[in-house]
This record gives sequence, structure tokens and C-alpha cells, in this order.
Amino acid sequence: MPATEAASWIVAVCAQKGGVGKSTLAMALAAATADSAGRALVVDVDPQATTVDEVEKFADPGFDVAHELDPARLSKLAQLRRYDLILVDTPGSLEGHDVLKEVIENSHFALLPFVNESPSRTPTQRTAELVAAAGVPHAAVINRVDPRSGGEAVLKARGELEQRGVPYFRSFVREYAGYPASLDAGKTVYQWRAKYAANMREDISRVNAELQRTLGRIANGSV
Ligand SMILES: Nc1ncnc2c1ncn2[C@@H]1O[C@H](COP(=O)(O)OP(=O)(O)OP(=O)(O)O)[C@@H](O)[C@H]1O
Ligand SMILES: [Mg+2]
Repeated sequence: MPATEAASWIVAVCAQKGGVGKSTLAMALAAATADSAGRALVVDVDPQATTVDEVEKFADPGFDVAHELDPARLSKLAQLRRYDLILVDTPGSLEGHDVLKEVIENSHFALLPFVNESPSRTPTQRTAELVAAAGVPHAAVINRVDPRSGGEAVLKARGELEQRGVPYFRSFVREYAGYPASLDAGKTVYQWRAKYAANMREDISRVNAELQRTLGRIANGSV
């Protein structure tokens, strides 16, 4: 989908693997946008609407959430021009395959959360191939990096992605108990005040900056 056709950026957050951080990343990037006075919408295309339920428990998320079962309506949402960033949170199950394809076809960019564990590698490669076949620019975001591993875990994860020809962001997300804990407390990552909260925000802000830079390049046709 050409970027010029829509007023809001649509970013699909996808992985044909459950539990790798799709919802976490979608909510955190929406919170990052809100933190800098941007308008963000998380669209949940999961029939179970898990993310909608979570965000509705937040005291004051600062971003909107919508349940949308028809991904073809995404571009209409974008044309409303109400948002700077629309993040589409997709289900990880294979039954969601057709939905995923439709979401991708309606997106400007796809972010693929990647946990460097054996069961995640092939699904990530498969998802990247699906996105590439639709002609949509994309990148993996390495998630759940052990903060104590130094740089080694990141280098290993990058190596696995390179081997599989999957492009990736340089920024990555470390593993902190604050992700599930902030959710339980009804707070976004940017509202969370506990040990390591600043580290969480640092990671998400770096991913957001890299995403914004990439979208800028897409807008001027250099991607
Ligand atoms: N960087 C992280 N550090 C710690 N916990 C994390 C991190 N990323 C995700 N998690 C946790 O892992 C679990 C799964 O994450 P999440 O729900 O975002 O995955 P998902 O890909 O959306 O899963 P599904 O496919 O089921 O929708 C959640 O409990 C979440 O809090
Ligand atoms: Mg999810």
C-alpha cells in the first residue's frame, strides 16, 4: 500500500508464534507515541479481543484501542487521519493466517517480535516471507533479551536472523518482569515506576525512534 494514500501510518505487529511479545510491543509503542503527545491507536484483530480487554483495564492509557474483525477496514481507519500511528496487534495462532495476510496487505510496515529460542526461529522466518511476498517492508525486533547477558545474546539473535535472511532493527527489548507487572497494575510502560522501569522505557523509546526513522524513509521512497 503506498504511504501517500493514507494519512495515518499502519504498522502490523505480527509473528506466527504465540507469546513472543506482539501485544506487549503494540501497547508499548502506542504508549511511547502518547508520551510524546502523539495520537496512537491499537487495533486488535484477535476474535478473543485480549488486548482490548487489557487496555480497557488501564486507568489512563493515553492511546485508543479498537476491536476490528475486518482488516480490510484498516485503510478506512487510516484515512480518518485521527492517528499518527496505528498498530495492528495480530493473533499468533495459525487459524489467524488469513486475517494476518489481510492485515499485512493493508499495512505500510510490519514489525516482527522475535524471541531467540528454537521454536520461534522458523515461524519468524515464515512470517517474514509472508510479509515480503506482499511487498511490505518489515523488520524483526529482538525481544526478551536477558539484561545480564551483555551484548552476547543480541549478537546471537542477530546471527540467527541473518542466517534466515530476516531484516531486523538494531534496537532491541530486554526482558523485565515489569512488562507483565505493569499490565497487572493497569499502567503503560511509560507510567510504570518500579525497578528497571527506566530501562524498559529506554528500550521502547529506541525501537520507536527506529520505527519513526524507517517510516520517514518509506515516506520519501528510500525503502
Ligand atoms: N521483554 C519482555 N520482558 C518480560 N516479559 C515479556 C516481554 N515481552 C513479553 N513479555 C511477556 O510475555 C507474555 C507474552 O507476551 P504477549 O502477550 O505480548 O505475546 P503475544 O505475541 O501477543 O502472544 P499471543 O500470540 O498469545 O497474542 C506476556 O506475559 C508478556 O508480559
Ligand atoms: Mg497477543
